[in-house]
Amino acid sequence: MSIDRVLIVGGAGYIGSHAAKAVRMAGREPVVFDDLSCGHAHAVKWGPLVKGDIRNADAVRAAIREHKPSAVMQFAARIEVGEGEKDPAHFYDNNVAGTLNLVRVMLDEGVRNLVFSSTCAIYGNPDKLPLTEDLPKRPVSVYGRTKLMCEQVLEDISRAHGMNFAALRYFNAAGADPDGEIGEEHDPETHLIPNALKAAVGLGGPMKLFGTDYPTPDGTCLRDYVHVTDLATAHILAADKIAAANTNLQLNLGGGEGRTVMQVLNAVEKATGRPVPVEVSPRRQGDAVALYADTTNVTRELGWKPKHSDIDTVVSTAWAFHRRAWGL
Ligand code: UFG
Repeated sequence: MSIDRVLIVGGAGYIGSHAAKAVRMAGREPVVFDDLSCGHAHAVKWGPLVKGDIRNADAVRAAIREHKPSAVMQFAARIEVGEGEKDPAHFYDNNVAGTLNLVRVMLDEGVRNLVFSSTCAIYGNPDKLPLTEDLPKRPVSVYGRTKLMCEQVLEDISRAHGMNFAALRYFNAAGADPDGEIGEEHDPETHLIPNALKAAVGLGGPMKLFGTDYPTPDGTCLRDYVHVTDLATAHILAADKIAAANTNLQLNLGGGEGRTVMQVLNAVEKATGRPVPVEVSPRRQGDAVALYADTTNVTRELGWKPKHSDIDTVVSTAWAFHRRAWGL
């Protein structure tokens, strides 16, 4: 079966809005379903917006009946790790119960292809790097546990009902649409690159640098920053693959290169031409030392290769978006 129309749940958010654009650019029709609790109506530009909550079966059913998608991409979730530790019930309700509700309605309505936003946080602190998909899943946060539970739910439902799913385990989504139309707009913002950009332009004081005593080359944490447009492209490839081959995929999705926080700050200084004032702070609870992806499987299964994920392109696209948003 070929994928023509895609219901993009959480499509007004950061990654979902980039996916909606990629779906449209690939000649398919995106329909966004979002409750706008975190996402932004102004980021929905490539197809209709249906306002609704994934926990509301009637609302999901009505959207599916009206738009008749051949696949669903599920981005709607709470993502802030610290918030999950403070209010786990809210996280389990949104992320696990919400996804389960969505999947049940999909089954009722005969929509059999799902691309699901998973995360490298399902691995916790890995014993070896780069991270391969077969490593033990030992999440150290509520956030990571909600995503792992969703993958388990999908495995069971797929086995029982023959539904196809792709769980894409993102590393650090970063950067902004290279055309500058959309970007990262979290509130509050907790991610490194937007916070470093803010500090560079003097918005809100110095950036807290969480930990300089890690066992890495410069003492700061190491992550795999993957451009959000590259992530978005992988979703279309994954939807096409699971639908055509009637199969499931569980894939790491990162650029495959680790960068330390200091290396990212250097890239921010280079892009902006300004120093990034930092306040060296204690380690942030729950931060893994180092995470980066083995990309062998995603390359083999999807033929996917990142095009924009070198750190300078990631940072310069983020900077172009933010400087416009901040009126600079
Ligand atoms: N960092 C700082 N200062 C900041 C923000 C981040 O020093 O103001 C550091 C963090 O300590 C970490 C690195 O920059 O070492 C990256 O932090 P991010 O918050 O940008 O990203 P994370 O690796 O913590 O988060 C990623 C995803 C999240 C997801 C999480 C789960 O971006 O959405 O993985 O592990 F929840």
